[in-house]
Amino acid sequence: MNTVDALILAAGKGTRMRSDRPKVLQTLLGESMFSIVCGVLHDVPEIRSLHAVVGHEAELVMKEADAVSANLSRKVACIVQNEQLGTGHALMTALPALHDPDKLLVINGDSPLITADLLRFFIREAEQSDIAFLSLDLEDAGRYGRVVRKDGKPVAIVEAKDFDEAVHGPLEEAHEVNSGIWLLSLESVRSLLPCLTNANKSGEYYLTDIVSLGAEKGCAVLGICADAVHAEKNALLGVNTPAELAGAELLLQQRRNSGLLSSGVILHSPESIRIGPSAEIAPGAEIFGPAEIYGKSQIGKGAVVRSHCVLKNAAVSSNAEIREFCHIERAVICENAIVGPFARLREGTTVGESAHVGDFVELKKTHLGKGSKANHLSYLGDAEIGSNVNIGAGTITCNYDGKNKHRTEIGDNSFIGSNSAIVAPVSVGRDSLIGAGSVITEDVPEGMLALGRGRQVNKDRRR
Ligand code: UD1
Ligand code: CA
Repeated sequence: MNTVDALILAAGKGTRMRSDRPKVLQTLLGESMFSIVCGVLHDVPEIRSLHAVVGHEAELVMKEADAVSANLSRKVACIVQNEQLGTGHALMTALPALHDPDKLLVINGDSPLITADLLRFFIREAEQSDIAFLSLDLEDAGRYGRVVRKDGKPVAIVEAKDFDEAVHGPLEEAHEVNSGIWLLSLESVRSLLPCLTNANKSGEYYLTDIVSLGAEKGCAVLGICADAVHAEKNALLGVNTPAELAGAELLLQQRRNSGLLSSGVILHSPESIRIGPSAEIAPGAEIFGPAEIYGKSQIGKGAVVRSHCVLKNAAVSSNAEIREFCHIERAVICENAIVGPFARLREGTTVGESAHVGDFVELKKTHLGKGSKANHLSYLGDAEIGSNVNIGAGTITCNYDGKNKHRTEIGDNSFIGSNSAIVAPVSVGRDSLIGAGSVITEDVPEGMLALGRGRQVNKDRRR
């Protein structure tokens, strides 16, 4: 089998997005377009290595490439195209950095709807050709490059703005468009790229010109139209404008949710549930919309996520319940725990088995032990809290002294009275009781009652 390397074209500015952010960093379902395309390429076993051409705001895109590399445990190597002189020029710039694959899969970075299945099909079908591309039929083909065929064979791709009706016939009737996904033999790329010119309306070196150049030189040129092979043609749509981004995100959401429903995940109001491509939801989990579940979140079997929750990189174990209006990021919720309504769990938090976190409670880098409860109005930061502990309403761990963060430890079976301030660093031994309204600044040995508050005095008002 041929070796295939993948190259993502991601150097463009994306002018039509009207945003300062590079287009490939716009997000769908919580992930950048760049990361989504890399994720799909990663799922294609035929692909040996991943490369990307970056240029506009290159540093930002390279930073994202590093994050994606770490996530996939696979390098996405970036090549800088200093001036964006066109898609053909992007490929010319990349060539020296590639390690001589037989075939090069080139994909526009603005194709977030592509699927691994379609790419695998394409790689198989196009194996024998020198130049192959995927196309689709569009009623309203707008600015896409049009495929021109002669006797069924592609002889050119003509950009909409360069389309000459006198030569190619009416533009309105040219429905077959180029998707920007190519499989190219390195040999033909090497011989044809030097022949590209920028003699066109944009003054750019178009990659699309290798179709006419290749056809003239007798190369095997193949255009596979999604409609002809009954492939999902939405998978080939590009994103150039905010409206197209919204449309692509909706399609991705529908595709994701119907996959989850058929795998046995229960979704209520799926049209208002947004689940990112990397999240793992076990069959038998139940999610109520509206909800957003992004990043590498995991939801276990029998877990329930009630409405209006936002989860990012959160792990919710089997049979845990996340009640309405919770915000959870980089936190772990163990089996049978109950969180919310209105709770906020931040990075590095673990809510132990059967523990409860209630309303207006915030946890950061805190481990709440098995069966422990923090049910109302608390901030618990940098704290190690044992099992069967009760944290009274209004308890605060004062973890920050203005310069540094300090840790709090609370032993098993302790009871922290309401409205206590635990001034870290401090430790409260097991089986202790803290009187309500205390300010605890010194360690409490195990089994003690600690009171750190002014004594009440009742004075006669009539004297
Ligand atoms: C391109 C195709 C068009 C096709 C359409 C499909 C060309 C000339 N045209 O048009 O036939 O129908 O995609 O969506 O190829 N880029 C670079 N460096 C550059 C220029 C662009 O890396 O110098 C990248 C962009 O970041 C983008 C991709 O190439 O990801 C495509 O560029 P874009 O400007 O979006 O091309 P289209 O006009 O959409
Ligand atoms: Ca485009």
